[in-house]
Amino acid sequence: MKNTDILVKLLRADIENKAILEVACGAADFSVSASAYSDSVYCIDLDARRLNSSLKEKLHFQIMDASKMDYADDTFDTIILYNAFFHIQSQWIEIERECRRVLKAGGVIYVVGTWKLDVNIIIDIFGGEAKWQDQFLIAAIRK
Ligand SMILES: C[S@@+](CC[C@H](N)C(=O)[O-])C[C@H]1O[C@@H](n2cnc3c(N)ncnc32)[C@H](O)[C@@H]1O
Repeated sequence: MKNTDILVKLLRADIENKAILEVACGAADFSVSASAYSDSVYCIDLDARRLNSSLKEKLHFQIMDASKMDYADDTFDTIILYNAFFHIQSQWIEIERECRRVLKAGGVIYVVGTWKLDVNIIIDIFGGEAKWQDQFLIAAIRK
């Protein structure tokens, strides 16, 4: 089973039939896994080069800066950054503000890392609030 399939199963209560946004999606592996449980999976990145073009029909992919999103306030139930935190760390204040803006009340932002670089910076920023579940270090920010 792919890592992202395992993660989606762990987070299933916040995925199934929810409006999902994956931020800094890269190849969008998490979004593909999540789309087995929700038709409303949006994913954004600055760069479309890693995205498999055949996925673009199934997922709602857009080139968009996560620090300046085009989405309306209160649009998503669940937002995820998967193995992307190291790459967006210098913009985290702006990106977190935007994620909170587009998240519905009662929604959740998951920052998840498996790679050493991501894990180290997640521990630096979230400390004990980040918890290991299986091979995933997960920080959950609720609105
Ligand atoms: C490690 S890669 C993606 C990892 C991805 N989640 C995966 O599993 O394939 C980090 C990504 O962050 C994207 N990125 C960096 N800054 C961004 C921003 N401000 N808005 C959106 N995407 C951004 C990069 O383009 C890159 O694709």
